[in-house]
Amino acid sequence: MNFFIETIGCQMNVNDSNDISEYLVSFGCKKIDDYLKADIVLLNTCSVRFSAEHKAYSFLGRLKEYKESNPDVIVGVIGCMAQYAYKEIKKKCPFVNFVLGAKDIQNFPEIINKFIKSKQTIHKIEKKEIFKYITIARGCSNFCTYCIVPFVRGQEVSIDSDKIYSFAKEAVDNGTKEITLLGQNVNSYSFNGINFTKLIQKISSISGLERLRFMTNHPKDLSDELICEIATNKKVCKHIHLPLQSASDRILKLMNRKYTYKQYRDLVFKIKSKIPDINITSDIIVGFPTETDEDFQKTFSAAKELQFGGLFIFKYSPRPKTFALQFKDDISVEKKQRRLYELLEESNIISKKINSNYINKEIDVLVEGFQDTICCGRNSQNLKVFFSGKQNLVGKIVKVNINNALANSLSGNMVV
Ligand code: SAH
Ligand code: SF4
Ligand code: F3S
Repeated sequence: MNFFIETIGCQMNVNDSNDISEYLVSFGCKKIDDYLKADIVLLNTCSVRFSAEHKAYSFLGRLKEYKESNPDVIVGVIGCMAQYAYKEIKKKCPFVNFVLGAKDIQNFPEIINKFIKSKQTIHKIEKKEIFKYITIARGCSNFCTYCIVPFVRGQEVSIDSDKIYSFAKEAVDNGTKEITLLGQNVNSYSFNGINFTKLIQKISSISGLERLRFMTNHPKDLSDELICEIATNKKVCKHIHLPLQSASDRILKLMNRKYTYKQYRDLVFKIKSKIPDINITSDIIVGFPTETDEDFQKTFSAAKELQFGGLFIFKYSPRPKTFALQFKDDISVEKKQRRLYELLEESNIISKKINSNYINKEIDVLVEGFQDTICCGRNSQNLKVFFSGKQNLVGKIVKVNINNALANSLSGNMVV
């Protein structure tokens, strides 16, 4: 049987989709890129913003036609939106065979087995994965007032560090060079006395592992101990994604972010002084209920003051179940859009300026891919780097001399 899987949302979902694909492949299904040829079509959904849900429904709209002319096709909707909009999906899309929420994703094998009759059990194919993402904690207990994640993924639960270790060790023994530890709030990790810094020490001790990354960090949990570990541990990449969301204390309070702008700013300056080559990136929400021009200006100035390496900017989107639903979504779409563009433009100028510091410098790049004579990889700071090279460089760390810098990437020549 052929299967197709469409994934919307964050790396957590990408990771869940990978696990599901591995499971299906393990008993003989083949993964394909064209849903119009698939016997099983899966849609892994996200509900963090309205636009993500809209995307899911438009894909389901296209699927409906395919299913009508191919009634035997198995259609499954899984993930975060499937978790809370279970009834709505069933009602709007009765052609869907099963809906499975993110919290119950471990039940996927049981569910799919009911639909697949003829299985050819084949042995697990050991495939070499240069990059491995490992979920170290599920859910989130922070309840930022705008965010649906705690409702669809549940409260935060850290995974046994021994399990994470053996999973990581197995991956590295099979050829993984870079591991990214994932959690909605990775740095609040805690399991049987092992905190996030200890977990990093444990994983980075695996010989053969070249690089260790993690995301996402909550400012309230970024300890001095962790900053020191990032500064001194050679395997830990010099990149911290540290969502600010807003620089207005009034808005931060309404968001339940549990820090003031001053606390955030002090933290950023502390990190920069302890780890001079760090790249700090951030998330911003514009147009949160009641956000005035003055509030927005504070965020705009903060972006200038803190010199982020990159910003992800989102327009506030009211989400079901969240506390912020009680506030009126009073900022017009046009105003949100204007604020987003204004900030994005400034952010691109800043990123480009920061990235131009790499010009004429040699940097280490772990090569991820190759297409039409061009290799693509990332440096420790998580910047994309392009240079001309060969296919056999994929998976290797090479030195690249940078001669061009854009807001989102660098390019140069390999040093031989
Ligand atoms: N746990 C991570 C990421 C959560 S989702 C963290 O806290 O940083 C990624 C980003 O989406 C958030 O950082 C936030 O900027 C944005 N986001 C979440 N809910 C949103 C909403 N309702 N409207 C607009 N942006 C939202
Ligand atoms: Fe959502 Fe806040 Fe948790 Fe991030 S920390 S997932 S924004 S509740
Ligand atoms: Fe991720 Fe979206 Fe779920 S951001 S946790 S896939 S709601």
